[in-house]
Amino acid sequence: MRIIRDIREMHAASRAARLQGSSIGFVPTMGALHEGHISLVRRARTLANLVVVSIFVNPLQFGPTEDFTKYPRNLEADSARLDAEGVEIVFAPPAAQMYPPGATTVVHVEGLSEKLDGRSRPGHFRGVSTVITKLFHIVQPDFAVFGQKDAAQVAVLRRMVTDLNMEVQLIVCPILREADGLALSSRNAYLSATERRQALVLHRTLLQVEALASSGHGNAQELRSAALAILAAEPAAHLDYFEIVHPATLEPVGDVTQGALVAVAASFGSTRLIDNLLLPGR
Ligand code: PAJ
Repeated sequence: MRIIRDIREMHAASRAARLQGSSIGFVPTMGALHEGHISLVRRARTLANLVVVSIFVNPLQFGPTEDFTKYPRNLEADSARLDAEGVEIVFAPPAAQMYPPGATTVVHVEGLSEKLDGRSRPGHFRGVSTVITKLFHIVQPDFAVFGQKDAAQVAVLRRMVTDLNMEVQLIVCPILREADGLALSSRNAYLSATERRQALVLHRTLLQVEALASSGHGNAQELRSAALAILAAEPAAHLDYFEIVHPATLEPVGDVTQGALVAVAASFGSTRLIDNLLLPGR
């Protein structure tokens, strides 16, 4: 496995692989890898001859009061894990190369970027769409694999790839969870044992909404009220949003019978967690 830090070297490696007829599968990450990330890597492995995983804690997608400096970084352990998965290239560029002094160009998916997490984290999705555009240019993947865990991110990036005619196929993998239902996240490492227990309310709420929907309750307002009652019963959960929306437009829906994305974000102590559920159409 090669660890490439230099952008031009990564670009050259991708160009060479493409000239040889290899297909490139790409998994962008911020590192602190867990089984959720690894599930994306395994998916990429089934799709392409050459798998590239990027590890880059992207400063552009963190707000000024967010956890950029304390975000867990462990390139050595991450690389060992990726090596064991048969990944060919880890791309870990320095921030100073990704954003050299004077860089002012951004990619902004208007509208979608201001919904769900984008509403509470202004500038977050602009940071995501900008870094993913840059990474796509550098890595030139045929496939790029993302997790449904970040449902709004998926909606923003799908729109971007369509709008900018990018020649890459986005693949979305299901949310991987702990045995007790907590969605795997690099930020779970911040939780105390008590907060971790309290955080289970997110999955519990989503399961209850799923049960209500599958027993015929289609009205989104009704489902939302039931969900808010469960969330309110866990006073440690500081709710950011609970929404039932169209998975592509992220606009609220009145009725879930055509399918819907149920998305929640809440903080436990100083740790903000997100989770979601896709309700199938009937
Ligand atoms: P990061 O949070 O490291 O996540 C990298 C990828 O792993 C994302 O596509 C995310 O949805 C997926 N993922 C995280 N937890 C998961 C889980 N429990 N099950 C399945 N997939 C999971 O998302 C980012 O990084 C960044 O915004 C990035 C796209 C790399 C741009 O900087």
